[in-house]
Amino acid sequence: MVHMGYKITDKRDLSPIDFFVEVEAPHIAKAWKPGQFVIFILHERGERVPMSVYKAENGRIGMFIRKLGKTSLQLYYEFNVGDEFYSMVGPLGKPIKVKYYGNVVFASDAVCGQAENYATLKAMKEVGNYTISIQTFENAENVYPEEFLAKPVADEHYLTTEDGSVGIKGHYLDIVKELIEKDKVDIIFAGGKLGSLAKLAELTRPYGIPTYATVRQIMVDGTGMCGSCRILYDGEVKFACRDGPVFDAHKVDWEDVLRRANRFLEQERLAKERYLE
Ligand code: FES
Repeated sequence: MVHMGYKITDKRDLSPIDFFVEVEAPHIAKAWKPGQFVIFILHERGERVPMSVYKAENGRIGMFIRKLGKTSLQLYYEFNVGDEFYSMVGPLGKPIKVKYYGNVVFASDAVCGQAENYATLKAMKEVGNYTISIQTFENAENVYPEEFLAKPVADEHYLTTEDGSVGIKGHYLDIVKELIEKDKVDIIFAGGKLGSLAKLAELTRPYGIPTYATVRQIMVDGTGMCGSCRILYDGEVKFACRDGPVFDAHKVDWEDVLRRANRFLEQERLAKERYLE
């Protein structure tokens, strides 16, 4: 299938549920900084899909994508290496502050978080931090191939599965707790499931450990105009696309975030069903 715009240079399975796509986008790759995201549009009338960045190197943007909604399935089944996306917008959002903190932890338990884990720690290691990566997957089957884990950029790497079928049995929250007790955490970043991020905020709060989480909300324009991704932060309304998506987790109203994130689940399920019919 021929598409106009941004050429796909690599596409591979990461697990039965996630895949990797790399796209030629030199202007975005050059400007991108950790913490920022992109939006891709597959075809002229396609939806705008926000995506975390795994790598922005050599003029290419690499992304980890879950085979979840209609657009991601369409990309997985209908687009191949050499095909082109209709459009890609970015970089969007605010970069995180990359500087020396000491021991920097990144914890992740879902597809976008796994991409951010690598991207964030790579930048943090380059400026001299001691980097600790914790990557949680549901089970051995869903664990990514070694070359897509954050190991190369982590001074310490923990792989956990929730069912214990490979690596350490448990969740990143268990490892974070142990590391805090050993006084090994100066700052923590995290991405992935919103419910886990809410729990992480509660876990680190009593210790006063700076905790930054990627707050994924439903986005439409991605530029702060539509209001779709609004969150309550420190008593104020903020937009995840413009003011985030990385926020101080201790100031986020997680109850509100979790409620809003689920509001289109039924519509998304129907769109996916129609595509698969
Ligand atoms: Fe529209 Fe953020 S996506 S305001």
